Amino acid sequence: MKIAVLAGDGIGPEITQQAERVIAALASDGLKLETEHAPVGGAGYDAAGDPLPEATLRLCEQSDAILFGAVGGPKYDALPRPKRPEQGLLRLRKHFDLFANLRPATVFPELAHASTLRPEIVAGLDILILRELTGDIYFGQPRGIRTNEAGEREGFDTMRYSEGEIRRIAQLAFEAARKRNRRVCSVDKANVLETTQLWRDVVTELHAQYADVELTHMYVDNAAMQLVRNPKQFDVIVTGNMFGDILSDEASMLTGSIGMLPSASLNAKRFGMYEPIHGSAPDIAGKGVANPLATILSLAMLLRHSLDQEAAAARIEAAVRKVLAQGLRTGDIAEPGKRTVGTREMGDAVIAAL
Ligand code: IPM
Ligand code: MG
Repeated sequence: MKIAVLAGDGIGPEITQQAERVIAALASDGLKLETEHAPVGGAGYDAAGDPLPEATLRLCEQSDAILFGAVGGPKYDALPRPKRPEQGLLRLRKHFDLFANLRPATVFPELAHASTLRPEIVAGLDILILRELTGDIYFGQPRGIRTNEAGEREGFDTMRYSEGEIRRIAQLAFEAARKRNRRVCSVDKANVLETTQLWRDVVTELHAQYADVELTHMYVDNAAMQLVRNPKQFDVIVTGNMFGDILSDEASMLTGSIGMLPSASLNAKRFGMYEPIHGSAPDIAGKGVANPLATILSLAMLLRHSLDQEAAAARIEAAVRKVLAQGLRTGDIAEPGKRTVGTREMGDAVIAAL
């Protein structure tokens, strides 16, 4: 089984390196895994003048799954949009039709203190945000900046969803809920936006086939509030690309650190790209202090969802729980004044716990 490793920029190479050491440890125990690297994002631009070089795309096509680090950095901010690092990520999502973005937010008991919310609000939290990833205002046409009749510049984007796009993500939400607490909250802005009125209608129609799952609807502004007021009211949240982008960053903070949260982006064939939900963190890049756990947990999701290696996935997750229970903390999840470990030391501990 071949994993394409696209480390990207900033802390990307440091954190994916630790995940690769975990892969090597599993391989030495007999799991048939191999990895191959290719540049993406700013690194792709530096190597080939393109955030998604042709050779990188080809490697991904020949692999069974993609492990992705992070992209972006100040060095690339002034590039024209098609050359910007983020385009590498967006084009990969679109190319492989990775419409289903799973962003679980769970609170490890040892880390409840690391949240900015009171521990009793977040302790035991276990929610799944299912974000549609290939449609919406991210990809809708037309878009651009033009000069209007008044001679003034005007920017515009198009929010757009077809019923098929809505149905396939809603279906996954209901199916995921069946394996959890059987509750789906669909988030929209149907009081204002036509696109999301259709979203609400299609989700409601499909619900007829999932009578055993409870469906509620919530406007996105209220959902943003409810997530910090009482996050444990949610089980599965399903929403569009834009709202999901925002709500998943918000949800990450419930868990204490964005450095803990993995994600999976899947297509209908379960081919997928796996990445931490955090970014490239240019401010700490190269210092060896980044938390590699979100990437290591993304590897667990990769093994589970794309390679059918549930046992190996569970083993990694258990190892992560163990190192947290042992008290190992990178800076982002440490209690003030307590000792912290670096990226590599955290990787060492996970491998030892495996
Ligand atoms: C994410 C990121 C991306 C997004 C950026 C880097 C394009 O914020 O994966 O959440 O907006 O989808
Ligand atoms: Mg985001």
